[in-house]
Amino acid sequence: MKILAIESSCDETAAAVVEDGRRVLSSVVASQVEEHRRYGGVVPEIASRMHAEAIVPVTQQALQQAGMDLQEVDAIAVTYAPGLIGALLVGVNFAKGLCLATGKPLIPVHHLRSHIAANYLAHPQLKPPFLCLVVSGGHSHIVQVTDYTRLKVVGHTRDDAAGEAFDKAARAMGMPYPGGIDLDKAAEGGDDSAFRLPHPRVDGAPYDFSFSGLKTAVVNIIHNAGQKGEEVSTADLSASFRKAVVDCLIDRFCLAARDTGSCTLVTAGGVSANTLLRRRLQDICAQNGWGLYMPPLSLCGDNAAMVGAQGFYEYQSGRVAGLDLNAYATMSIEK
Ligand code: KG4
Ligand code: ZN
Repeated sequence: MKILAIESSCDETAAAVVEDGRRVLSSVVASQVEEHRRYGGVVPEIASRMHAEAIVPVTQQALQQAGMDLQEVDAIAVTYAPGLIGALLVGVNFAKGLCLATGKPLIPVHHLRSHIAANYLAHPQLKPPFLCLVVSGGHSHIVQVTDYTRLKVVGHTRDDAAGEAFDKAARAMGMPYPGGIDLDKAAEGGDDSAFRLPHPRVDGAPYDFSFSGLKTAVVNIIHNAGQKGEEVSTADLSASFRKAVVDCLIDRFCLAARDTGSCTLVTAGGVSANTLLRRRLQDICAQNGWGLYMPPLSLCGDNAAMVGAQGFYEYQSGRVAGLDLNAYATMSIEK
């Protein structure tokens, strides 16, 4: 089954053709990041307008790269939640138009489920059940994936997402949006014990995260040094911050793995590109004899190939939408 997939939940307009949930026939991503960089973050209205401009050419390119025309695809999958509502609506309405014109089935896909499915493209042998750490710019979850479309949230962030924390700390250090990747690079040359940063826990919720205090601590360190006329080493502060975030992520993820008896661990989302997170998980999983699957760097960020992968399994479980499909800014991954 060949699925044309569309993604427009944030600041990437993407289209892809994926066969049987596992084989990428084409994948095109048009990033708006340069445009949003000048404002220090994503401007929702600009994102929507840029999706409206890019969606037709990006889809045409994806079909062309796959060597297909629209009539040859079997279904159309689209990200319908969660994300920026105006951005999601561009993709949802466009996909509905394609379905109306062709009579193909419309498959609604949850954005975070698709991040998890990026792993199905890279790892043919990977099948549920497994435990997944989903860490993106907007979400941080520990999810038990019992089947392709049956998921249970075990833990989540109480405030900022991990990616958001990376971006805010990077911005405080003067790095351009989105910042997470630059902070990661700067940290490689720094001393991670240079600054003592909090490792917050959430009372009564052993698998939950809280990152907003960590970001505030970074802002305070920079502010206090500025008042004393002292220089803060960006490399050292980046390394200390990155270690604190990764310590928290790994601590909760491994605890959840032990308590749920999961011996296959998976990561998903933009932050799973983080160098330290990848390194530490590789070591821990090797020590414990756990299987570890992470998306290649090219599939960590937003793309439509992952939407085509999850779309296949949603379709197989009977999930097809009518042409009255709406977009939703928030939605549980369990739905
Ligand atoms: O999953 P994603 O592409 O978009 C959302 O669905 O949010 O994640 C983007 C997030 C951004 O916050 C970005 O800074 C972060 O992933 N990110 C990283 C790294 N690469 C991307 N954070 C830490 N280290 C990285 N290497
Ligand atoms: Zn994403």
